[in-house]
Amino acid sequence: MCQKAPAPAQTSSPALMHIDDKPLETCRLDFLRAFVYLSEYSNTVRAYDRARLAFLGLSDLSVTISGSFGRHTHDGPLPKMDDQVTNQDNIAVHCRGVTKSYGTGDVRVVALRGVDLDVRAGELLMIVGPSGCGKTTLVSVITAILSQDSGQCNVLGRDLRRMHERERAYFRRMSIGFVFQMFNLLPALTATENVAVPLLINGMSWEDSQSRAAGLLKMLELGVRRDALPAQLSGGEQQRVAIARALVHDPKLVVCDEPTSNLDHTTGRQVLEILKGVAKKADRAVIIVTHDTRILDFADRVARMDDGKIVETVDREQLP
Ligand SMILES: Nc1ncnc2c1ncn2[C@@H]1O[C@H](COP(=O)(O)OP(=O)(O)OP(=O)(O)O)[C@@H](O)[C@H]1O
Ligand SMILES: [Mg+2]
Repeated sequence: MCQKAPAPAQTSSPALMHIDDKPLETCRLDFLRAFVYLSEYSNTVRAYDRARLAFLGLSDLSVTISGSFGRHTHDGPLPKMDDQVTNQDNIAVHCRGVTKSYGTGDVRVVALRGVDLDVRAGELLMIVGPSGCGKTTLVSVITAILSQDSGQCNVLGRDLRRMHERERAYFRRMSIGFVFQMFNLLPALTATENVAVPLLINGMSWEDSQSRAAGLLKMLELGVRRDALPAQLSGGEQQRVAIARALVHDPKLVVCDEPTSNLDHTTGRQVLEILKGVAKKADRAVIIVTHDTRILDFADRVARMDDGKIVETVDREQLP
């Protein structure tokens, strides 16, 4: 299936270089599929990389790729993220009047109706509120997964409105860790491989990424399950894999959508200890969306959301 790849005629993306660096007979279709899937999520595959995959004989993938990636083909250097990502005035996230709707006409749903929110650097902020009030939509805007319709949203010193799609993708993969409400683990990859994907996309070697991923899984008490596929893991175990994947590349902003919904009390608190440890660093911040009142005592502040707005933000000491 795998053939000898040609010497690179130009600089390729780091992640594909590392795939090529492996002995080609060990190329794993599953892994490449996963890489392509995640590259679509982060828009990192360029025309040259598509050609390399096609050369590897993965014609089914190349069809998918040319269909999915035509619109994302850009050349030229990416911005250097460390130069740009700063926490201005100790504010990691600054939202004013953010609105977002889904659909149009009769099926239009207004999810955000003018959100004002600040998240300070070094804090763990929890967002609570009834189902459907817009929590997931808000954190999706903050993490540049969705674009707001109007309003200002500055994250780690960057104005999201001024970033084009490729910059947003790069920003997400370098600076953001996201635990999705539905986990979004890649079914064909083991726990360790799932956790390693952000590192591979950011250019780390296969061996280093696997060992770092395995270390984090051990910390989350999943060491013995590191080679299991997501379908072989319980909901709580999958959730911890998703949390490890969000933390593995040491992002400046970690956003977790219901990270403890499948965890028992003790494990939930262990996970919160780890997230709290991340937030304590002065140039980091953690946002947690939750319905779980058992974990509110880990928050520095709690923002209450209702009907598409933040209606109240209170310090932990003010909580009942
Ligand atoms: N892709 C979508 N298309 C259309 N409407 C959507 C979409 N995603 C969310 N909505 C709607 O937007 C509103 C806000 O949804 P959102 O998922 O942000 O709520 P939430 O507060 O996260 O809810 P939950 O606590 O149940 O997860 C809801 O009315 C929801 O039905
Ligand atoms: Mg939600």
